[in-house]
Amino acid sequence: MPEAAVHLGSGKVRELYALGDDRLLLVASDRISTFDVILPTEVPDKGRVLTGLSAFWFARTRELVPNHLLALRDDGRSLECRRLEMLPIECVVRGYLAGSAWRDYERTGAVCGHRLPAGLREAERLRQPIVTPATKAESGHDENIDAAAAAARVGRARYEQAEAAALRLYAFAAAHAEARGIILADTKFEFGVDGEGTLTLGDEALTPDSSRFWEADAYAPGGPQASYDKQFVRDYCESLGWDKTHPGPDLPPAVVTGTRARYVDAFELLTGCAFDAYLADPQVVLR
Ligand SMILES: Nc1ncnc2c1ncn2[C@@H]1O[C@H](COP(=O)(O)OP(=O)(O)OP(=O)(O)O)[C@@H](O)[C@H]1O
Ligand SMILES: [Mg+2]
Repeated sequence: MPEAAVHLGSGKVRELYALGDDRLLLVASDRISTFDVILPTEVPDKGRVLTGLSAFWFARTRELVPNHLLALRDDGRSLECRRLEMLPIECVVRGYLAGSAWRDYERTGAVCGHRLPAGLREAERLRQPIVTPATKAESGHDENIDAAAAAARVGRARYEQAEAAALRLYAFAAAHAEARGIILADTKFEFGVDGEGTLTLGDEALTPDSSRFWEADAYAPGGPQASYDKQFVRDYCESLGWDKTHPGPDLPPAVVTGTRARYVDAFELLTGCAFDAYLADPQVVLR
């Protein structure tokens, strides 16, 4: 008999359950949010893409940084994890100047305390990746902070450890993605601490929801880049003149199909596994 899973809460995309005292079940739904609003229409298998990709990366980066993965369930959308004491910060690693980092740079010449050379263009590659911490907002948008503010929240030694771990993970994943025609522009990690005090990677990792993936062939710095997966939905929503507040618009079938295809493409390019093979046996991404 399956053991009882106690529902702890719902995120925008995932459902969180406790399995006993020391494990969690993270179940990724097919919900899609754009401009931080959950849309009324789901994208079939999106949760499986996110879960499969996270599991793929967890299996391949364990030697770089310990992570919370215990098991991937055969529904392809549920991860059994070690329950951690999560740090109250997020660690964003940026190899390219996009999103809020670009806006901060344009305004101040710096990003979260990293002073950058003058004259960089939007979406330009940085000479070296930087870590830009953010608070984990209980509600609303996360707020960028600098290293000193992050260290004040978690302790200096712990922050330095998280920063180094985030950079190791980014370097590994960016090289892997680049060899497959995808630029990993930036990505967000959430770390926690296990019972022994070991810094451990938690949450999801290196998915389209936590990262900006760009198609390398279409890369053209000097303006915003189309993101690999969600751009399709964003373009559609913007074409309606929607004001980006709740409720979002329904997605027509062609937009759902197109979006699903983009998520599946990203999965297949990054993992080298056919998505149908993943659906038949999710464990393929762990091998
Ligand atoms: N191993 C873990 N131990 C404890 N908490 C974890 C672990 N892994 C992830 N979490 C937490 O579980 C939650 C995952 O939920 P989810 O990402 O769906 O929602 P959210 O982050 O609250 O909201 P959002 O929709 O903005 O992502 C996060 O709060 C995350 O920090
Ligand atoms: Mg989250």
